[in-house]
Amino acid sequence: MRIVFIGPPGAGKGTQAERIIEKYRIAHLSTGDMLRAARDAKTPVGVEAETYMAAGELVPDAIIIAIIAERLEQPDCQYGYLLDGFPRTLPQAEALDAMLAAKGTALDVVLELNVPEEELFQRLAGRGRADDQPDVIRQRLVAYREQTEPLLQYYRQQGLLKSVDGIGTVEEIFHRVEAVLDPYAC
Ligand code: AP5
Ligand code: MG
Repeated sequence: MRIVFIGPPGAGKGTQAERIIEKYRIAHLSTGDMLRAARDAKTPVGVEAETYMAAGELVPDAIIIAIIAERLEQPDCQYGYLLDGFPRTLPQAEALDAMLAAKGTALDVVLELNVPEEELFQRLAGRGRADDQPDVIRQRLVAYREQTEPLLQYYRQQGLLKSVDGIGTVEEIFHRVEAVLDPYAC
């Protein structure tokens, strides 16, 4: 199963991803987690990415696409994967389509987690990651609205988009997610 997980900052992608990968036995590919690991290890990519992440801006497409292209070659990806936070721009989505086509594969489903902005602020304010200060959260939301939301239409046109209400308990939301994903499980 190959899944793209889309949702604004704080929607609960990472929280639901933990449950999804456990149930469906697929790899979890979170570009945010990969960038934070690179930042903490002070690799050249990590050092460059940090300036964008700290400002709540998207890291340049070329860096992200290279990271994902390499990651998709790892053996664990052959059993399927959940892309959490990628793609986030149209060029990233097009690059992903090209990578999949080159492998003779395709996405099964694009899952959108829908949460209103007021709720996102409350969730992120209570977490305390380095990019969870109010002004950075605001910029992350702008980046989502301007650069990532257009992907919803891109995937809707391909008939791949399924939206799930992201308000409720973690368990309630996971039941909605399962209802969407179960038909694609082998
Ligand atoms: P990334 O790490 O992807 O962050 P994000 O999209 O901003 O989202 P978060 O990880 O903050 O939220 P989430 O949806 O995973 O929610 P979570 O489960 O944690 O990206 C970070 C940065 O990296 C970007 O700003 C960018 O700079 C860069 N980047 C990454 N990918 C990129 C790409 N493809 N291109 C360019 N740049 C890229 O939950 C949030 C909180 O809510 C938690 O405290 C959680 O406990 C709580 N919570 C979860 N579910 C519920 C619930 N149902 N009810 C109440 N609280 C809940
Ligand atoms: Mg996350």
